[in-house]
Amino acid sequence: MNTKILDVSGLTEETLQRAQAFHEPMAVDIVEGALEKIREAASVLQRGGLVVFPTETVYGIGADAFNEEAVRSVYAAKGRPSDNPMIVHIARASDTALLSERLSPEIVKLADAFWPGPLTMVLERRKEVPDCVTGGLRTVGVRLPDSLVAVELIRLAGTPVAAPSANLSGSPSPTKPEHVIADLDGKVDIILTGQDCRVGIESTVVDMTVSPPQALRPGIITCDDISELIGQPVEMDPALLLRGAGADAGIPRAPGMKYRHYAPKAEMLVLEGGREKVRTELVRLKALNEGIGRSVGLLFFDEREYVRAAHDFYARLRALDEDGVDLIIAGALSEEDGLGFALMNRMMKAAGYNIVRV
Ligand code: TXA
Ligand code: MG
Repeated sequence: MNTKILDVSGLTEETLQRAQAFHEPMAVDIVEGALEKIREAASVLQRGGLVVFPTETVYGIGADAFNEEAVRSVYAAKGRPSDNPMIVHIARASDTALLSERLSPEIVKLADAFWPGPLTMVLERRKEVPDCVTGGLRTVGVRLPDSLVAVELIRLAGTPVAAPSANLSGSPSPTKPEHVIADLDGKVDIILTGQDCRVGIESTVVDMTVSPPQALRPGIITCDDISELIGQPVEMDPALLLRGAGADAGIPRAPGMKYRHYAPKAEMLVLEGGREKVRTELVRLKALNEGIGRSVGLLFFDEREYVRAAHDFYARLRALDEDGVDLIIAGALSEEDGLGFALMNRMMKAAGYNIVRV
């Protein structure tokens, strides 16, 4: 398939403001140019095609959620098992009603507070939502992304857009244009390339069909954030608390969590423990491996900069793979911190639960 790669990075809050509020001719040109490309992409979605687009979390690969054939072709492009439910993306909160008719006050509160933004709510689905979107579940994941490009695309397409992350199945989620081009050029109709994704890890997924609500995938919006807002406790899917063999044996309620996701090609090891001990072990392991001719890459993040770590995480994994390292040694992050917990969830999966406590 011939993929059109269209750069829409010019459409930002800033250019939009310059164009709309100040009528700056250059900004008007930039915005109009980007909108023209987004219109083209939207018409491809309407005709049942596939469009890769940026969101604030990671890039998505989208299809018209109500076109079963188009939705099925998303699985084929990603090379992923088809029992995995997709998140349906909408352009305004009121469109939730197209997907679910049971909207509790808590759901409305969360939408008000966190949309547009990196929160996916699992809701009871309307019967019109195709089985291939929900993996046969009676629920549907819904999210309004905080990205001008994504929202314009969905709005112009005039239909909710089913979109998993735009990586080949098993590889790290894409947060930069070069990642989606590497994975999906030739497999989709259009790739819209925008700014690098601001958040860098996927949305928080919370199941609102159970009481108390249950977090199925941790993200930058934490259980505490949600719980505080709705004035109710939020439980964690017990599978999120398991490690190693336990985590593989557990049956996560978000089916997408059961595959070995986010994996780099290199072997990966996570070191956990006090700063000094980790440093000593790191030096020892590095020397040991390099001594037998294995190249070692490091993945360490600053304790106080987890927002930065989230932004960089997948890009760093991909860069280490490009360097062709044989072993990645990573430093564990504090799981006491909500975002640290979300990052550790990805890090442990990437390492296949290869964690050493020193
Ligand atoms: O940030 C994101 O959420 C990105 C961007 C593109 O929006 N999308 C994303 O999609 O990460 P994907 O397919 O890679 O992950 C979707 C996750 C999976 O873990 C899936 O099992 C879960 O959401 N999920 C979707 N619908 C669900 C449902 N009805 N019940 C339980 N889990 C669901
Ligand atoms: Mg994914």
